Amino acid sequence: MPEERSERSWSTVRVAYDSGIAWVTLDRPDKRNAMSPQLNAEMIEVLEAVEADDRCGVVVLTGSGESFSAGMDLKEYFREVDKAPEYVQLKVRRDCSQWQWRMLRVFSKPTIAMVNGWCFGGAFVPLIACDLAIAADGAQFALSEVNWGIPPGNLVTKALSEVVGYRDALRYIMTGDTFNGVQAAEMGLVNSSVPLAELRAETVKLANNLLAKNPVVVRAAKLGFKHSRDMSWGQAEDYLYAKLEQSQFLDPERGREQGLKQFLDDKTIRPGLQAYERHAPTAG
Ligand code: COA
Repeated sequence: MPEERSERSWSTVRVAYDSGIAWVTLDRPDKRNAMSPQLNAEMIEVLEAVEADDRCGVVVLTGSGESFSAGMDLKEYFREVDKAPEYVQLKVRRDCSQWQWRMLRVFSKPTIAMVNGWCFGGAFVPLIACDLAIAADGAQFALSEVNWGIPPGNLVTKALSEVVGYRDALRYIMTGDTFNGVQAAEMGLVNSSVPLAELRAETVKLANNLLAKNPVVVRAAKLGFKHSRDMSWGQAEDYLYAKLEQSQFLDPERGREQGLKQFLDDKTIRPGLQAYERHAPTAG
């Protein structure tokens, strides 16, 4: 079991650190981990805390019990907020966007969504904002908004269009039909799906792969990919070269030089088939 030694605690989210992984668990199992205004506000604090914590090299986002998340809390996020003053409504929406995509999509550490069960509506935003995702074969997904009388809100549709093709996206947006983890993997919503009993081990394996890599380079690589999607080719070329040079400038272990030396001079690695052997930064 992961070590539960987080100094801070929250009432709707659990955080546990184990061997470089921060396990961030949406924790309202009685409400199928529906995302309430309180959960959204707490998740902002949680992401700030794990970002600052050197026990965290990779974040895994998952849910308590049999759900990843049943989406936005229809009672606390919608009905109750309908009656609130406008400034409260604005804050509630801002908190939601703040963690679900502003922070998570460009988080400074790699992020993996581990979809253990129900995943509906608003839960697609943090799911897609995570860099990678693994689902249980039997996890049930749906864009269920149409089933309770609204089009998908917040950035659900926008997020979906980043990862899923046109026909699949419209099919599920317009029908609200459910699909399972195997189908989610086929359509590219998640990287893979595995039997539930293997989900955690498979996620740890993926996290360990990421943890073995140079974190400065991984960060530059993922941000380069995400930001350049919205740029012209010319802008992207300039930005990605700048990103490459930034990563060399910021990299304390000088990974590029180590990689080139180990391949070209020492002939100890073939980078097409394996990563360079990382050595601690040398002084000067
Ligand atoms: N918002 C608020 N409460 C929710 C919720 C949501 N999105 N999803 C589940 N809950 C609550 C239920 O109201 C119920 O609360 P109660 O015990 O106080 O009555 C509790 O969680 C359990 O829900 P229940 O429907 O009995 O669980 P289930 O295991 O039979 O079904 C779901 C699980 C997820 C299929 C079902 O709860 C559901 O359809 N939820 C709504 C999903 C949705 O459309 N989300 C889109 C939001 S944009």
